[in-house]
Amino acid sequence: MRPYSLAAYLVTSAVILVPASAQLLPFFTKPSTARQPSLDQQPIMNANTPNPQPPPSSSSSSTTPPASAQAAVILSDVIGNSRQTNIFAGFTRDISSVATRLDASLLNTTVLAPANTAISALPRKPWEDPKDYAEMGAVAYEGLSGSDRASSNLRRFTEAHVVPVSPWEEGKKVKTLAGTELWWESRGGKTVVLPGEVEVEKVVSRVANGEVWMLKGALNYAV
Ligand SMILES: *[C@@H]1O[C@H](CO)[C@@H](O)[C@H](O)[C@H]1NC(C)=O
Repeated sequence: MRPYSLAAYLVTSAVILVPASAQLLPFFTKPSTARQPSLDQQPIMNANTPNPQPPPSSSSSSTTPPASAQAAVILSDVIGNSRQTNIFAGFTRDISSVATRLDASLLNTTVLAPANTAISALPRKPWEDPKDYAEMGAVAYEGLSGSDRASSNLRRFTEAHVVPVSPWEEGKKVKTLAGTELWWESRGGKTVVLPGEVEVEKVVSRVANGEVWMLKGALNYAV
């Protein structure tokens, strides 16, 4: 967790919640609890109290068909379950485009979650872009505009790991939410995501609206 204390100073308030939510979520095993947007810090939902400010992501319960079988477990329920990928899971909950996608029970997604070790090993933080440093120097992420810049970089990084398809066939080229193109192949007993040739360590979760794959590295890292 250590490098992520830095997030509190660099990125918008949303990212400050990463360490807390990342640590807490694995202990919430009930899907109904995990379905809550992570930015909601209230541990208990108070559904009956009128809320002057509705939460940003629409409540999934209102869109679930009431009569039929129990709501299936979906990506937003399980994304934080693996301790080995909980840093990236925190990003997915803080980036609203991705959080919405993982909470969409009718849209399938393959999440390519870099392992915590892979994110920690990056030469720069996911929200840092050498172009920003080249243009603005050391103050690139200071102040309000700096924090906006960091948020937007983190969004691009996170969206570049979200493939809007599942099942995802071998060799099939798909555009990520960030617009980058990816495909995967089996090579010598390993599964690699291309064009970066990043190895897939394992499939962490398989649920109704997709899968979470754990990667040994990060994709499309700004060069
Ligand atoms: C979505 O994923 C499920 C498996 O979880 C699969 O049965 C279904 O065909 C997929 N839908 C699409 C449109 O790929």
